[in-house]
Amino acid sequence: MDKEFNTIVVIGSQWGDEGKGKIIDIISQNADAVVRFNGGNNAGHTVIVKDKTFKFRLLPSGIVSEKVVNIIATGVIINLSALVEEIEELEKNDIKIKNLYISDRSPLVLPYHPILDKFFEEKREKSKIGTTARGIGPAYSDYIGRDSLRIGDLLDKEYFRERITQIYNFKSKILSEESLGYKLDEIYNSQIEAIEKLLQKGVIITDTSKLINNLIDSGKKVLFEAAQGTLLDIYYGTYPYVTSSFTISGGVCVGAGIGPQKIKKIIGVIKGYTSRVGEGPFPSEIHDSIAEYIREKGQEYGTVTRRPRRVGWLDLVALRYAKRINNFTSIAITKLDVLSGLEKLKVVVGYRYKGKIIDEFPYSLNVLKNCEPIFEELPGWKENLLGILDISKLPQNTIKYLEKIEKELDTKVEIIGTGPERNDVIIVKDPWE
Ligand code: IMP
Repeated sequence: MDKEFNTIVVIGSQWGDEGKGKIIDIISQNADAVVRFNGGNNAGHTVIVKDKTFKFRLLPSGIVSEKVVNIIATGVIINLSALVEEIEELEKNDIKIKNLYISDRSPLVLPYHPILDKFFEEKREKSKIGTTARGIGPAYSDYIGRDSLRIGDLLDKEYFRERITQIYNFKSKILSEESLGYKLDEIYNSQIEAIEKLLQKGVIITDTSKLINNLIDSGKKVLFEAAQGTLLDIYYGTYPYVTSSFTISGGVCVGAGIGPQKIKKIIGVIKGYTSRVGEGPFPSEIHDSIAEYIREKGQEYGTVTRRPRRVGWLDLVALRYAKRINNFTSIAITKLDVLSGLEKLKVVVGYRYKGKIIDEFPYSLNVLKNCEPIFEELPGWKENLLGILDISKLPQNTIKYLEKIEKELDTKVEIIGTGPERNDVIIVKDPWE
């Protein structure tokens, strides 16, 4: 008989910033391990516990639950100095890092990658991607192009010196030393200094695929947290306005080194509306005062860059696509409280393109850009949702809104976020059951 595995994958189903941090924080209360499997310090997960706001970039969100094993798996690209900074920030808040494991195979973001990211964006002129300027694209490109290093390479200083010299010489021939912004020795020293700090803090660099598989096989509850969202996936997102990693459920297998059969549940996190940072088409975008209302109430400003986020209605065409790509087994819906007070809510049920109705999310950005959304209107609700702990106590119109999403996606809502804090939540069904 097939073994039952206790694994949950949490995926962003829109353009990121769905409020995954909070959902992961809730689910991780009963997890044995939390694993990050994609992205880098471009991600920004906000977790609020007892009036304290924590912003995680590279660290798995389970780090505030001290009993949990936290794993940064192979698919995560690591800026070592940023990781040290993030850990030191937590230490200032009396949170000691315990049980943090990093994959020896994780690629590095080297000091010149953020410089190149900014430089490339500048040169793109009108075709800017709107990156977070953290060097993510150039670092993944170098890795795929086989001109990079993995964190495990730092454990053998001689090898690291030899390899970084080769790479630096090669890069500076193509790009010049000035454009790299750092001298070879500066790069070598910064990386060695950072890795030594991490090792002193008890961080373990290891084969995390082995660790994760052992945890799963021994029946432990393992939670995989995605960074960014489905529409930012390098293959399935709105290319080229995407990030450079696999943000979808399939990315877990690659990023964590596990087989697909080991995934039991896939929870899609949906914000009650849509938001997007950076450039690219956004059919349900709102341009009037309602956008301002939602932005302010939902504090829709980038966690990493503080850029105001573009805001739009819920797009069910895009969500149906996200359901298909990820195969969500259930849904967590966040920030429903932000919509309180709006008289009417709109959801996009289809697109009109050149007079024709499209109900599949299109491949072409040129098509997407020129799609006119077909809205369905639903009645809003006035009531404040804060403090409601039982789904049956939600206003009738909130329930109608949820039922519409469930019906369109043919997937049940399991968790409902009703406010920013950890306890502002309705657990419809225990996700670990
Ligand atoms: P990069 O990941 O910095 O290369 O940025 C590429 C695109 O992904 C830009 O549109 C960013 O705004 C977006 N992006 C990257 N990380 C996040 C995130 O955590 N939330 C939302 N958008 C993100």
